Amino acid sequence: MIRLAQISDLHFGREVPAVAEALLADLRAAAPTLVAVCGDLTQTARDAEFRAARAFLDSLPAPALVVPGNHDLPGWRVWSRAARPWRRWRQHLGTDPHGAVTFQGDGLMAVGVNTARPWTLHTDWSRGRISVGQLAAIRGAFDSTPVEMFRVVVTHHPFLLTEPGRRRGLVGRSALALRQLRDRADLLLGGHIHLAYSGVVAGLVVAQSGTAFSNRLKGEPNSYNLIEADGDRLTVRNRRWNGLQFDTHDSAGYARHEREWSAM
Ligand SMILES: [Fe+2]
Ligand SMILES: [Fe+2]
Repeated sequence: MIRLAQISDLHFGREVPAVAEALLADLRAAAPTLVAVCGDLTQTARDAEFRAARAFLDSLPAPALVVPGNHDLPGWRVWSRAARPWRRWRQHLGTDPHGAVTFQGDGLMAVGVNTARPWTLHTDWSRGRISVGQLAAIRGAFDSTPVEMFRVVVTHHPFLLTEPGRRRGLVGRSALALRQLRDRADLLLGGHIHLAYSGVVAGLVVAQSGTAFSNRLKGEPNSYNLIEADGDRLTVRNRRWNGLQFDTHDSAGYARHEREWSAM
């Protein structure tokens, strides 16, 4: 069985330390194979926020696969945003925001790509997009992976929206991405909406996690997802902050039949 933790929207600068500590305790108890971190590590992409995010990542009890979010860009610092949008990300996280990050082990293949963009044609600069090159990188990683591996894609921007988050928009090129990932991936992990839910799109399971421990709440408590994959069965458990600790708020089950997932 593969156990995966999905955390998102840490927003250091707006973090609640007691909730962050409790999350670490819950993760230590869960002992996941991998922690997928779905972006917005910082609130305003300042050095101090990135340093706090780095220290948090270093204290995780499992390897982390980390992608940026729109808040990890210099917001209205227009010169930095234009000239060197990812300078601090590179400095503190040490990964190339234009490349794919991967994790392979324990029957799991995970690929993360950066969907945040310094500029968009949309008036809402928080929107994101997946590029043709990033899709090629994901396809390349999965096509060279043994067929029995459980395949996960990690982004910040979502492939599935529910009514409360509808106006935030799907990740750009989501339709093309879903066509290409349909027979290649199992699970798509995202954040950005600060709401937790899961469902099936194009035969793939999509899981969204809430804001893990920031006070930027959008109508529901802090949460993260604990996901277990066992052959053709998948469970997404949403672990919510109850004021004292994280506990299971709800659980959704999915089953796979000939590479297509459906809700149980
Ligand atoms: Fe966020
Ligand atoms: Fe975001």
